[in-house]
Amino acid sequence: PPPGALQLLGGVPDPRLVPVAALARAYRRALSRREHLGYGDARGHPRLRAALARMLGEARGLAVRPEGVLVTRGAQMALAVAARGLLRPGDAVAVEDLGYRPAWEALRLAGLRLVPLKLDARGLDVEALAARAGPERIRAVYLTPHHQYPTLVTLSPARRLSLLDLARRARLVVLEDDYDNEFHYEGRPVQPLASADAAGVVVYVGSLSKVLAPALRIGFLAGPEDAIARLTAHRHYLDRQGDLAVEAAVAELLEEGEAQRHVWRTRRIYAARREALADALRAELAGALTFEQPPGGMAYWCRVAPGLDAEAWADRALAVGVAVQAGRLFAFDGGSPPNLRLGFGRLDERELREAVRRLAGALGRASVAGGAAARPLRTAARPRRTGRTRSSR
Ligand SMILES: Cc1ncc(COP(=O)(O)O)c(C=O)c1O
Repeated sequence: PPPGALQLLGGVPDPRLVPVAALARAYRRALSRREHLGYGDARGHPRLRAALARMLGEARGLAVRPEGVLVTRGAQMALAVAARGLLRPGDAVAVEDLGYRPAWEALRLAGLRLVPLKLDARGLDVEALAARAGPERIRAVYLTPHHQYPTLVTLSPARRLSLLDLARRARLVVLEDDYDNEFHYEGRPVQPLASADAAGVVVYVGSLSKVLAPALRIGFLAGPEDAIARLTAHRHYLDRQGDLAVEAAVAELLEEGEAQRHVWRTRRIYAARREALADALRAELAGALTFEQPPGGMAYWCRVAPGLDAEAWADRALAVGVAVQAGRLFAFDGGSPPNLRLGFGRLDERELREAVRRLAGALGRASVAGGAAARPLRTAARPRRTGRTRSSR
C-alpha cells in the first residue's frame, strides 16, 4: 500500500503494540552472551525450543518434547522445509481453495503438484479429499483448520476426526498451519489437529508473527521426532541456523511469561477492534457488504452485494487511501469470488472508522467515476459465477 494508506488488511498485527522495551532488554542481554554471535544448533536455540514445547503443551494440548520442535524463519520457511523434507518432487498435495497463496508457492517451489479442494461453512471438504486421495495419489494436505485462511471458518469436529482417520489410513502427511491460534475471542481456542494425532501423521506449523512481530521471523515445526530430525538436515543446508540472539531473546520473553501477558493484553485490544470494525461496517456499508462474526482471527470475510465488483472496489479504495484485499487474491483458479477480506489488526478504533468511511466513499465515487482507468464498479447486468463461489461465505 502507498504511504499513508490505512491498511484494512487481513491478519496483519499492529506494530505499535509490540512490546519493544521488553524485547530490547532481552535482546541486549542475549547479545552480551558472545556465544549467540557464533554458530549454533540448526534446530533453533535450545531455550526457545524448550519454551515452545512448553507453550504447545500448556496452551495447545500438544505433548511434544524440545526434540520434536524445529525453529524456522517464520511459518513460511517451515512450509518450505516440510515440503522438501517430507515429500518428493511430483508428489500431489491437496490445498484449500480459497487459500493462502504464499504457502501454495512454497509447495510449488519444492516441485509439488497442488490439488485444490473446495470449502464450505465447515471448512475443507474432507469427503472430496477422501474420494480423490487414492485416484490422484495425493500424499499430503496443507490446511488452516482453526481460522481458515481467508474465510475464517473452523474445521468441524466431525471433519477433524475423518481427516485424521483418512490420513492414518492413506498415510497422508497433514501440514497443519495454525498461524494465529492465540487470537480467538469466544470460548477457548480449538485444539490443533496435532493434539489428537495418535498416528503421527500431523506436522504442525506455528508462527510468532502475530504474537510478537512478523519481522522477527520466528516460526516453527512440531511433529514426530524422526520427522523433525529429517527436516533439521534440510533447514541446516538451506539456512544453517536462525538468529541465535533473537531466538534467545524471544525464549526469555516466553520463559518469563511476558509473551503470554502480551497476548492477553493484545487479545483484548483486537477484540475491541473487531467490534469497532463490525459496527462501522454495519453503519456505513449495510447494503453493500454482509459478513458473519467469526470466533477468532484478525479479519472479516465479507460478501459484496450482487452487482458490485469486489476488485474494482478494492482498486478504488486504494486510490482514496485504504488498502483492502479482494477475493481473487485467495482463489486458486484466478476466479473472482464476490468477497473482500477486511482486517482489523493493524488499525485502532478511530482509524478503523476512518478506513470504513473511505471504503464507503470509494463506493460512492466509483458509481459516478469514469475515465480510462476506471473499471465499472457496479456490474448490475453481470450474473455472478455462483458455481465458483459457492464454497465461500
Ligand atoms: C495462513 C498463514 N500462514 C502463516 C502465516 C505466517 O507466516 P510467517 O510466520 O512466515 O510470518 C500467515 C501470516 O499472515 C498466514 O496468514
